[in-house]
Amino acid sequence: MIEKIERLAGPIRQHKLLEEQGCTSEVSQVETEEGTFILKKASQPRYRDWLRKEAQALQRVQGTVAVPGFLGFWESDRDSYLLMEYIEGVSLTSALKRVDDGEERLALIRSFGDFLQRFHEGEPLEGIGEGDWLERVWEEAEPYVRAGETDGDIELLEQLKAERPASVKPTMIHGDCNPDNVLVVDGEVRCFIDVSGMTVGDPRYDESLAIGKFTGKEKDAFYDGYKRYRVSDEEFKYFYHGMYELF
Ligand SMILES: Nc1ncnc2c1ncn2[C@@H]1O[C@H](COP(=O)(O)OP(=O)(O)OP(=O)(O)O)[C@@H](O)[C@H]1O
Ligand SMILES: [Mg+2]
Repeated sequence: MIEKIERLAGPIRQHKLLEEQGCTSEVSQVETEEGTFILKKASQPRYRDWLRKEAQALQRVQGTVAVPGFLGFWESDRDSYLLMEYIEGVSLTSALKRVDDGEERLALIRSFGDFLQRFHEGEPLEGIGEGDWLERVWEEAEPYVRAGETDGDIELLEQLKAERPASVKPTMIHGDCNPDNVLVVDGEVRCFIDVSGMTVGDPRYDESLAIGKFTGKEKDAFYDGYKRYRVSDEEFKYFYHGMYELF
Protein backbone atom coordinates (compact mmCIF):
# COMPACT_ATOMS: atom_id res chain seq x y z
CA MET A 1 0.00 0.00 0.00
CA ILE A 2 2.77 2.40 0.96
CA GLU A 3 4.73 1.71 -2.25
CA LYS A 4 1.58 2.27 -4.27
CA ILE A 5 0.90 5.63 -2.62
CA GLU A 6 4.50 6.73 -2.98
CA ARG A 7 4.56 5.80 -6.65
CA LEU A 8 1.47 7.94 -7.26
CA ALA A 9 2.05 10.82 -4.86
CA GLY A 10 5.69 10.86 -3.80
CA PRO A 11 7.50 10.00 -0.53
CA ILE A 12 5.15 10.01 2.49
CA ARG A 13 5.80 12.44 5.33
CA GLN A 14 2.73 11.80 7.42
CA HIS A 15 -0.32 9.57 7.33
CA LYS A 16 -3.22 10.15 9.75
CA LEU A 17 -6.84 9.10 10.08
CA LEU A 18 -9.32 11.93 9.65
CA GLU A 19 -11.47 12.99 12.59
CA GLU A 20 -14.53 13.17 10.37
CA GLN A 21 -15.19 9.59 9.21
CA GLY A 22 -17.95 8.27 6.96
CA CYS A 23 -19.66 4.95 7.56
CA THR A 24 -18.54 2.92 4.61
CA SER A 25 -14.83 3.51 4.46
CA GLU A 26 -11.79 4.54 6.44
CA VAL A 27 -10.57 7.95 5.35
CA SER A 28 -7.06 9.23 5.99
CA GLN A 29 -4.99 12.21 5.04
CA VAL A 30 -1.62 11.56 3.49
CA GLU A 31 1.03 14.22 3.31
CA THR A 32 3.84 13.58 0.86
CA GLU A 33 6.67 15.65 -0.55
CA GLU A 34 4.35 16.55 -3.42
CA GLY A 35 1.24 17.63 -1.53
CA THR A 36 -1.69 16.51 0.59
CA PHE A 37 -3.99 13.68 -0.45
CA ILE A 38 -6.95 11.67 0.76
CA LEU A 39 -6.85 7.89 0.94
CA LYS A 40 -10.17 6.02 1.20
CA LYS A 41 -10.08 2.36 2.11
CA ALA A 42 -13.10 0.01 1.98
CA SER A 43 -13.23 -3.58 3.14
CA GLN A 44 -16.81 -4.88 2.97
CA PRO A 45 -17.81 -6.24 -0.47
CA ARG A 46 -20.65 -3.77 -1.09
CA TYR A 47 -18.54 -0.84 0.02
CA ARG A 48 -15.59 -2.01 -2.09
CA ASP A 49 -17.97 -2.00 -5.01
CA TRP A 50 -19.00 1.58 -4.17
CA LEU A 51 -15.38 2.65 -3.92
CA ARG A 52 -14.66 1.19 -7.37
CA LYS A 53 -17.68 3.10 -8.69
CA GLU A 54 -16.43 6.26 -6.97
CA ALA A 55 -13.06 5.88 -8.68
CA GLN A 56 -14.73 5.41 -12.07
CA ALA A 57 -17.04 8.39 -11.55
CA LEU A 58 -14.17 10.60 -10.36
CA GLN A 59 -12.19 9.79 -13.48
CA ARG A 60 -15.10 10.35 -15.82
CA VAL A 61 -16.13 13.75 -14.50
CA GLN A 62 -12.65 15.25 -13.96
CA GLY A 63 -12.53 18.71 -15.49
CA THR A 64 -16.31 18.98 -15.89
CA VAL A 65 -17.68 18.67 -12.35
CA ALA A 66 -16.18 20.12 -9.16
CA VAL A 67 -14.70 16.97 -7.57
CA PRO A 68 -11.30 16.12 -6.06
CA GLY A 69 -8.57 15.20 -8.55
CA PHE A 70 -8.15 11.46 -9.10
CA LEU A 71 -4.76 9.85 -8.46
CA GLY A 72 -5.35 6.13 -8.37
CA PHE A 73 -7.46 3.13 -7.41
CA TRP A 74 -6.19 -0.35 -6.52
CA GLU A 75 -7.35 -3.50 -4.79
CA SER A 76 -5.79 -6.16 -2.59
CA ASP A 77 -7.43 -9.44 -1.59
CA ARG A 78 -9.06 -7.80 1.42
CA ASP A 79 -9.35 -4.10 0.70
CA SER A 80 -9.88 -1.48 -1.99
CA TYR A 81 -8.15 1.90 -2.03
CA LEU A 82 -8.82 5.24 -3.67
CA LEU A 83 -6.26 8.04 -3.65
CA MET A 84 -7.40 11.55 -4.51
CA GLU A 85 -6.62 15.20 -4.07
CA TYR A 86 -7.19 16.70 -0.62
CA ILE A 87 -9.55 19.68 -0.70
CA GLU A 88 -8.95 22.16 2.07
CA GLY A 89 -12.49 22.46 3.33
CA VAL A 90 -15.05 20.90 5.66
CA SER A 91 -18.30 19.12 4.93
CA LEU A 92 -21.40 21.32 4.86
CA THR A 93 -22.66 19.35 7.88
CA SER A 94 -19.58 20.41 9.90
CA ALA A 95 -19.69 23.96 8.61
CA LEU A 96 -23.32 24.25 9.72
CA LYS A 97 -22.44 22.99 13.20
CA ARG A 98 -19.88 25.78 13.54
CA VAL A 99 -22.24 28.66 12.84
CA ASP A 100 -25.31 29.77 14.74
CA ASP A 101 -28.78 30.22 13.40
CA GLY A 102 -28.22 33.57 11.76
CA GLU A 103 -27.58 34.80 8.25
CA GLU A 104 -24.27 32.94 7.93
CA ARG A 105 -26.09 29.64 8.21
CA LEU A 106 -28.65 30.58 5.59
CA ALA A 107 -25.89 31.85 3.28
CA LEU A 108 -24.14 28.46 3.44
CA ILE A 109 -27.38 26.68 2.63
CA ARG A 110 -28.14 29.10 -0.21
CA SER A 111 -24.71 28.37 -1.68
CA PHE A 112 -25.51 24.65 -1.54
CA GLY A 113 -28.70 25.31 -3.54
CA ASP A 114 -26.79 27.41 -6.02
CA PHE A 115 -24.05 24.76 -6.39
CA LEU A 116 -26.60 22.01 -7.02
CA GLN A 117 -28.52 24.23 -9.44
CA ARG A 118 -25.41 24.73 -11.59
CA PHE A 119 -24.63 21.01 -11.49
CA HIS A 120 -28.12 19.94 -12.52
CA GLU A 121 -28.28 22.56 -15.25
CA GLY A 122 -24.96 21.40 -16.75
CA GLU A 123 -24.85 19.28 -19.89
CA PRO A 124 -25.19 15.56 -18.94
CA LEU A 125 -22.00 13.68 -19.79
CA GLU A 126 -22.25 11.22 -22.62
CA GLY A 127 -21.73 7.53 -22.10
CA ILE A 128 -22.62 7.41 -18.41
CA GLY A 129 -25.83 6.19 -16.85
CA GLU A 130 -27.22 4.34 -19.87
CA GLY A 131 -30.90 3.44 -19.56
CA ASP A 132 -33.38 4.31 -16.86
CA TRP A 133 -31.77 5.37 -13.58
CA LEU A 134 -34.60 4.31 -11.25
CA GLU A 135 -34.77 0.85 -12.81
CA ARG A 136 -31.02 0.48 -12.53
CA VAL A 137 -31.07 1.39 -8.84
CA TRP A 138 -33.86 -1.10 -8.15
CA GLU A 139 -32.02 -3.86 -9.96
CA GLU A 140 -28.71 -3.19 -8.22
CA ALA A 141 -30.35 -2.87 -4.80
CA GLU A 142 -32.51 -5.98 -4.97
CA PRO A 143 -29.96 -8.59 -3.81
CA TYR A 144 -28.98 -6.38 -0.86
CA VAL A 145 -32.64 -5.72 -0.01
CA ARG A 146 -33.34 -9.47 -0.08
CA ALA A 147 -30.31 -10.13 2.10
CA GLY A 148 -31.63 -7.66 4.67
CA GLU A 149 -28.64 -5.36 4.27
CA THR A 150 -30.67 -2.21 3.61
CA ASP A 151 -33.19 -0.30 5.72
CA GLY A 152 -35.91 -0.88 3.15
CA ASP A 153 -37.45 -4.34 2.69
CA ILE A 154 -38.77 -6.08 -0.41
CA GLU A 155 -42.31 -4.69 0.15
CA LEU A 156 -40.87 -1.19 0.00
CA LEU A 157 -39.04 -2.02 -3.23
CA GLU A 158 -42.24 -3.35 -4.80
CA GLN A 159 -44.15 -0.30 -3.62
CA LEU A 160 -41.54 2.05 -5.11
CA LYS A 161 -41.83 0.25 -8.43
CA ALA A 162 -45.63 0.52 -8.35
CA GLU A 163 -45.74 4.18 -7.30
CA ARG A 164 -43.05 5.58 -9.56
CA PRO A 165 -43.65 9.32 -10.10
CA ALA A 166 -44.03 10.81 -13.59
CA SER A 167 -40.62 11.18 -15.20
CA VAL A 168 -38.65 14.41 -15.44
CA LYS A 169 -35.75 15.20 -17.75
CA PRO A 170 -32.65 13.31 -16.55
CA THR A 171 -29.68 15.41 -15.46
CA MET A 172 -26.29 14.79 -13.92
CA ILE A 173 -26.89 13.70 -10.33
CA HIS A 174 -24.61 13.18 -7.35
CA GLY A 175 -26.62 10.22 -6.09
CA ASP A 176 -26.05 10.75 -2.34
CA CYS A 177 -26.41 14.47 -2.16
CA ASN A 178 -26.71 15.12 1.56
CA PRO A 179 -24.79 17.87 3.38
CA ASP A 180 -22.10 15.33 4.46
CA ASN A 181 -21.02 14.92 0.88
CA VAL A 182 -20.28 18.47 -0.22
CA LEU A 183 -17.30 20.50 0.95
CA VAL A 184 -17.36 24.14 1.99
CA VAL A 185 -14.34 26.24 1.02
CA ASP A 186 -14.19 29.95 1.95
CA GLY A 187 -17.79 30.01 3.14
CA GLU A 188 -19.27 28.44 0.03
CA VAL A 189 -20.14 24.94 -1.14
CA ARG A 190 -17.51 24.30 -3.79
CA CYS A 191 -16.89 20.57 -4.22
CA PHE A 192 -18.65 17.20 -4.26
CA ILE A 193 -17.12 14.20 -2.49
CA ASP A 194 -18.27 10.59 -2.06
CA VAL A 195 -19.33 10.41 -5.71
CA SER A 196 -19.93 6.67 -6.20
CA GLY A 197 -23.52 7.38 -7.30
CA MET A 198 -22.65 10.22 -9.69
CA THR A 199 -24.36 9.53 -13.01
CA VAL A 200 -27.21 10.73 -15.18
CA GLY A 201 -30.46 10.26 -13.28
CA ASP A 202 -33.41 11.86 -11.52
CA PRO A 203 -32.46 15.26 -10.04
CA ARG A 204 -35.35 15.04 -7.57
CA TYR A 205 -33.36 12.42 -5.68
CA ASP A 206 -30.46 14.84 -5.10
CA GLU A 207 -32.84 17.65 -4.24
CA SER A 208 -34.73 15.53 -1.69
CA LEU A 209 -31.57 14.34 0.03
CA ALA A 210 -30.21 17.87 0.04
CA ILE A 211 -33.20 19.40 1.85
CA GLY A 212 -34.09 16.34 3.95
CA LYS A 213 -32.94 17.70 7.31
CA PHE A 214 -33.53 21.41 6.73
CA THR A 215 -36.10 23.49 8.62
CA GLY A 216 -38.67 25.55 6.71
CA LYS A 217 -36.50 28.66 6.75
CA GLU A 218 -33.47 26.66 5.66
CA LYS A 219 -35.42 25.14 2.78
CA ASP A 220 -36.36 28.66 1.65
CA ALA A 221 -32.66 29.59 1.71
CA PHE A 222 -31.81 26.46 -0.31
CA TYR A 223 -34.42 27.39 -2.92
CA ASP A 224 -33.06 30.95 -3.14
CA GLY A 225 -30.12 29.20 -4.79
CA TYR A 226 -31.85 26.20 -6.35
CA LYS A 227 -34.38 27.80 -8.65
CA ARG A 228 -34.95 25.17 -11.34
CA TYR A 229 -37.51 22.99 -9.57
CA ARG A 230 -39.14 22.40 -6.21
CA VAL A 231 -40.13 18.84 -5.26
CA SER A 232 -43.72 18.28 -4.17
CA ASP A 233 -44.36 16.74 -0.73
CA GLU A 234 -45.18 13.48 -2.47
CA GLU A 235 -41.99 13.46 -4.52
CA PHE A 236 -39.97 14.30 -1.42
CA LYS A 237 -41.53 11.37 0.43
CA TYR A 238 -40.88 9.02 -2.47
CA PHE A 239 -37.22 9.87 -2.72
CA TYR A 240 -36.23 10.70 0.86
CA HIS A 241 -38.32 8.19 2.78
CA GLY A 242 -38.44 5.65 -0.05
CA MET A 243 -35.54 5.42 -2.50
CA TYR A 244 -32.97 6.39 0.14
CA GLU A 245 -33.89 3.28 2.14
CA LEU A 246 -32.53 1.08 -0.64
CA PHE A 247 -28.94 2.13 0.05
N1 LIG B 1 -11.03 14.87 -1.12
C1 LIG B 1 -11.26 15.23 0.13
N2 LIG B 1 -10.71 16.35 0.63
C2 LIG B 1 -10.95 16.70 1.91
N3 LIG B 1 -11.66 16.00 2.78
C3 LIG B 1 -12.23 14.86 2.35
C4 LIG B 1 -12.07 14.41 1.02
N4 LIG B 1 -12.72 13.25 0.88
C5 LIG B 1 -13.28 12.97 2.06
N5 LIG B 1 -13.00 13.93 2.97
C6 LIG B 1 -13.41 13.95 4.39
O1 LIG B 1 -13.70 12.63 4.81
C7 LIG B 1 -15.07 12.51 5.25
C8 LIG B 1 -15.64 11.19 4.76
O2 LIG B 1 -15.54 11.10 3.36
P1 LIG B 1 -16.60 10.32 2.46
O3 LIG B 1 -17.94 10.90 2.62
O4 LIG B 1 -16.06 10.25 1.08
O5 LIG B 1 -16.51 8.88 3.16
P2 LIG B 1 -17.55 7.69 3.25
O6 LIG B 1 -16.95 6.68 4.15
O7 LIG B 1 -17.90 7.26 1.87
O8 LIG B 1 -18.77 8.34 3.89
P3 LIG B 1 -20.25 7.76 4.04
O9 LIG B 1 -20.17 6.30 3.93
O10 LIG B 1 -20.69 8.24 5.36
O11 LIG B 1 -21.03 8.39 2.94
C9 LIG B 1 -15.76 13.73 4.68
O12 LIG B 1 -16.78 14.17 5.49
C10 LIG B 1 -14.65 14.77 4.62
O13 LIG B 1 -14.53 15.41 5.86
MG1 LIG C 1 -19.91 10.50 2.85
